[in-house]
Amino acid sequence: MVQSENILKVENLYVSYDNVNIVRNISFDLKKQEFLGIVGESGCGKTTLLRALMMLKRRGNSMKGRLLFQGKDLTKFSEEELRILRGEGISMIPQNAFAAMDSTKTISSFFHETVQMHSSQKVARKDSDRLASDLMKKLLLQDTERILKSYPFELSGGMCQRVMIAAAMLNSPKLILGDEPTSALDVTSQLQVIRELELLKREYDISMIMISHNVGVISRIADTIAIMYGGRMVEYGTRDDIIKDSVHPYTKALLAAVPDREGNISKGLPGLPPVFEEGMSSCPFAPRCAYCQKRCETQLPEDVTLGGRHRVQCFRAKELQNGTA
Ligand SMILES: Nc1ncnc2c1ncn2[C@@H]1O[C@H](COP(=O)(O)OP(=O)(O)O)[C@@H](O)[C@H]1O
Ligand SMILES: [Mg+2]
Repeated sequence: MVQSENILKVENLYVSYDNVNIVRNISFDLKKQEFLGIVGESGCGKTTLLRALMMLKRRGNSMKGRLLFQGKDLTKFSEEELRILRGEGISMIPQNAFAAMDSTKTISSFFHETVQMHSSQKVARKDSDRLASDLMKKLLLQDTERILKSYPFELSGGMCQRVMIAAAMLNSPKLILGDEPTSALDVTSQLQVIRELELLKREYDISMIMISHNVGVISRIADTIAIMYGGRMVEYGTRDDIIKDSVHPYTKALLAAVPDREGNISKGLPGLPPVFEEGMSSCPFAPRCAYCQKRCETQLPEDVTLGGRHRVQCFRAKELQNGTA
């Protein structure tokens, strides 16, 4: 059950690459045991946002804003505090499981190194093996003895992905971040892994933020959904707010489109995604929007609250909501 207490609070977060803002003024709360799905086209800033939530920066990145995890400001953490945080606090399932593993090491050593890297205590190999085995069984992997002795290239894509999920669970984090953790799988396996994640979430009392370019898949499990466009959170709300009562023309286009494997929905939408540049002072979606007016081309829309947790960045939000646009 989702609880009322926040596990994470993000306030006015900006992340830039070489002084150009990519993630632009993002704020949201995540409650204990809540699952947030973040959806948007390829290149809109999803990975940059997710990595920033655990203070992981790429070269050339800088960050501004507040990030409160269990009430503590992560932007003030030391490197040593962050090392422990990235296992016992927040862990990440990467986008490409296979690429994230060292092909010269067995799965057992991978688990052992992972647990050791982010732990505040020494962990024996037999203990990490046992823990990993238990978690893999929960993810419906059979014959975990054999998997532990295997090398990554001896496993299928679905198995690698489950190994990564088990690895993310090893240090008993409170929050798991997933960067399209299922997008390399076919839709049936995606749904299966999503259901397994849901069971883990309940059993271990964790919160999750998962990126996807497929609203359909993520809406099977998400409590809240955020739609990103041009580095901004253009619409946010509960699953029903987004799936049944969405207002932003981009959200509606996403819901109507079937994205390709790269997350592009361009076939269902005229025009191209925005190019990031400094001093953007218009609605990023304006060039592709059927409801665009003069002000949309000269001003940046702020959040309009539509009730409860539902908010949308559109000048015409109210008209679109009551059907008079
Ligand atoms: N290494 C980099 N250097 C400079 N800009 C980058 C780099 N990586 C990503 N970007 C910029 O950040 C934008 C968002 O990237 P990313 O967060 O990976 O998007 P997503 O995960 O939504 O596909 C890209 O469109 C690009 O403009
Ligand atoms: Mg990405």
